[in-house]
Amino acid sequence: MAFYFSEPSHTFGEYLLVPGYSSENCIPSNVSLRTPLVRFNKKGGEEPAISMNIPMVSAVMQAVSDDKLAIALAKEGGISFIYGSQSIEDQAAMVARVKSYKAGYVTSDSNVRPDQTLEEVIALSEKTGHSTCAVTEDGSAHGKLVGIITSKDFRISHCKSGAKVSEYMTPLSDMAVGHEGITLSEANEIIWDKKVNQLPVIDKDGKLVSLIFRKDYSTHETYPNELLDSNHRYIVGAGINTRDYMERVPALIEAGADVFVLDSSEGYSYWQAKALKDIHEKFGKDVKVGAGNVVDAEGFRFLAEAGADFVKIGIGGGSICITREQKGIGRGQATATIEVAKARDEYFKETGIYVPVCSDGGIVHDYHVTLALAMGADFVMLGRYFARFEESPSNKLVVNGQYVKEYWGEGSNRARNWQRYDLGGKKGMAFEEGVDSYVPYAGHLHDGVGMTLKKVAHTMCNCGALTIPELQEKAKLTLVSSVSITEGGAHDVIVKNTSLQS
Ligand code: IMP
Repeated sequence: MAFYFSEPSHTFGEYLLVPGYSSENCIPSNVSLRTPLVRFNKKGGEEPAISMNIPMVSAVMQAVSDDKLAIALAKEGGISFIYGSQSIEDQAAMVARVKSYKAGYVTSDSNVRPDQTLEEVIALSEKTGHSTCAVTEDGSAHGKLVGIITSKDFRISHCKSGAKVSEYMTPLSDMAVGHEGITLSEANEIIWDKKVNQLPVIDKDGKLVSLIFRKDYSTHETYPNELLDSNHRYIVGAGINTRDYMERVPALIEAGADVFVLDSSEGYSYWQAKALKDIHEKFGKDVKVGAGNVVDAEGFRFLAEAGADFVKIGIGGGSICITREQKGIGRGQATATIEVAKARDEYFKETGIYVPVCSDGGIVHDYHVTLALAMGADFVMLGRYFARFEESPSNKLVVNGQYVKEYWGEGSNRARNWQRYDLGGKKGMAFEEGVDSYVPYAGHLHDGVGMTLKKVAHTMCNCGALTIPELQEKAKLTLVSSVSITEGGAHDVIVKNTSLQS
């Protein structure tokens, strides 16, 4: 006989948090939103190989996660999973662009040799727009550093023609330098101490690694949560499928991808377990791969045992998703998150291994992020939310006098990402599981994410929690009746200003 779940499944809009005691320390500036991304031996005191500074990742979708959005989100402390429904070369190029984006440490493209002329320095500066040139023995980007020359070091009208860089540069012996591994804040201390505008960073052989400029530190101050790898490059993820991973994964590793996710509408399958096994066997356990999506404890257990580094939750709850209508599968996102998070805790109790879980799809209001975390999610994946921002890859249009951005599902005819719905066998799919739509334009990601997280931190303080694990432990959740939902918004008044947004 078929199995029936005893409770109806619920979604985020049916829950509210009931406040707990807030001590004097419970203020938003004390809240940490740091959260693990990949499995780790928590019992053994191990640290996760990758953590995020905010609990938000962007969806593996054409309309959401390209290199531009990935850089904007990494600046805030989260991770984008660059969409996999494109050629391996194109996806690898996007990943490579994120990894080569300067995050305060600049690879100098304006280097000169000491025997070059000042006229050549001027010509180079005009070409690159940079007024500072590192001087390396052979003029290469990572050659042995011998000095630095800036436009302030000489007045060309007062120099004899053909004068050499070596005569006007500041030689290495008179310069402040940083050594490889220096942090931006340490570099900033030296920059202020020595009253210089830039600090060259050299390796143990005296070769130039990068330049840090005074102005880059102020960029860093705007993004105190930025998520960097050990080489100070932004962290980025990539979506993969269960068909071409043996070619796609090595190309993406080569491009610098830090983490992968098997992107599928339904992850409790032979194909996902096989892909996890093959990837870990061939490329090693250091290659981190999330899997999903599942909506119950059984699905979680299956993927955790198959070696998934994190497990994604959610079927049919996405804003552009018509899977439930088309196929009749899925589960309310709140119920699925609660059950899977419980399964994660049981798995941890049994094995000592903590496998983070991600609630994917169906986040409509900012408070839904807090609810998902309170229900046990370690982080959330959002599509519609990020598609609205300036940095998303889709077109910005004016429709009915309003700025909108396009947002389409991976299972729509527009994206044609049939691999996401693949059940093996012959390639191809006969019906859509997603729609093509517009979403209201919402400005820059920095402002939007900043506002969302401000609200999350406030609610956490209302619940007496300063960290995500503390919220998960202390949260008191209540189901709401349909009548009390009406009570939750402004009611029985004529609202003057309707610009209040979620
Ligand atoms: P949203 O944040 O509610 O817009 O949901 C985004 C999530 O919907 C993604 O992360 C995917 O899990 C899922 N999704 C993306 N495209 C489709 C589709 O075409 N059909 C069904 N679900 C989709």
